[in-house]
Amino acid sequence: MIARWRVGDADVVLVRGDITRERVDAIVNAANSSLMGGGGVDGAIHRAGGPAILEDCRRIVERIGRLPAGEAVITGAGELPARHVIHTVGPVWSGGRRGEDDTLAAAWRHSLALARRHDLRTIAFPAISTGVYRFPIDRAARIALDVVADELREHGGLDVVRVVLFSESDWRAWVAVARERLGEPVESTGPGT
Ligand code: APR
Repeated sequence: MIARWRVGDADVVLVRGDITRERVDAIVNAANSSLMGGGGVDGAIHRAGGPAILEDCRRIVERIGRLPAGEAVITGAGELPARHVIHTVGPVWSGGRRGEDDTLAAAWRHSLALARRHDLRTIAFPAISTGVYRFPIDRAARIALDVVADELREHGGLDVVRVVLFSESDWRAWVAVARERLGEPVESTGPGT
């Protein structure tokens, strides 16, 4: 199940799958401020990538203490097929009146900026904040896709931005929002496309 849009000089691709299997320059981790791992995609990345990722995170925490929500840092990828992991911290949803939208937008924007700063060409995101942090999925998709589209139109550098959705329902929700924000996909397979 895949759907692809052309935005600026890049492809935006929504795919159903497991982000730990993505063969890209960087995958993005929906981490927490401790950078010491957790459940969800954070747990999956550390399990699949092995201890080298946590070692890199430890060195970063020694330097900066905690990673504030909305910020992003980059580490190696250990045993993963990706080359790097960009760790970012999304907002915990608490009703939408505590700046959660801006913090989520910042997490996506800083992750993309960090990828560009490291001359990376391909990046894969999970649906940041929509699991344990309970951010409403349609709202998160709209914020994320608007940031991705703005960044790709304004800056060159990236060739492909992938969003890897773990469940079919998440994939359908993101495809519906992408159609609304980006128009018809240039390529799509799977139900709901
Ligand atoms: N590949 C892709 N997406 C995944 C995977 C995976 N292997 N595992 C989970 N997801 C999806 C979830 O289904 C959800 O849609 O990632 C999205 C984000 O969910 P969480 O991982 O719960 O992240 P988040 O909501 O940002 O909460 C972050 O959870 O795991 C802890 O340490 C983490 O404290 C932090 C919090």
